[in-house]
Amino acid sequence: MSVQRTLILIKPDGVHRRLIGTIISRIENKGLCIVAMKMLRVTEELSRQHYAEHVDKPFYPQLEEFITAAPVVAMIVQGPDAVGVMRAIIGATNGREASPGTIRGDFGCSRQMNMIHGSDSPESAAREIGIYFTPDEICDYTPALNAWSFAADEL
Ligand code: RTP
Ligand code: MG
Repeated sequence: MSVQRTLILIKPDGVHRRLIGTIISRIENKGLCIVAMKMLRVTEELSRQHYAEHVDKPFYPQLEEFITAAPVVAMIVQGPDAVGVMRAIIGATNGREASPGTIRGDFGCSRQMNMIHGSDSPESAAREIGIYFTPDEICDYTPALNAWSFAADEL
């Protein structure tokens, strides 16, 4: 276990469906901490960088059309095991298969329109954070509630 950072995007469908506040609440309620956040429009170039592993797949053109179609909210979320914890609260890729209680399981029914992105490994997180944020956009701070949220050996 270690304190990690992960790159989270509220995707264009989440923005249009006014789910920004709901999704941020779930992240905060879980006990993770937002250390950077901004709204931006993903360009075609940024999409190709972000989804480099998918660029050659048949579904990539429609993924790019979707992710560039409206603004996203990009965040860096920090906390113990933040990469895996966020993947768990996000749920399976396809909303029809995502467990109830997860974000994708509770708010959607689509494989593509799945509202939120979360890095899939610490290595992906480091790469994706570098794509979306410069170091001076990251606000490092010690959450005041840490003492009542985690044992000393969890931080
Ligand atoms: P994400 O990267 O967006 O967090 O989603 P993920 O890890 O759960 O899924 P991934 O396999 O990385 O796929 C990235 C996004 O591409 C769309 N997708 N479409 N048509 C298809 O077969 C297909 N497969 C994936 C989804 O929007 C998925 O979130
Ligand atoms: Mg992925």
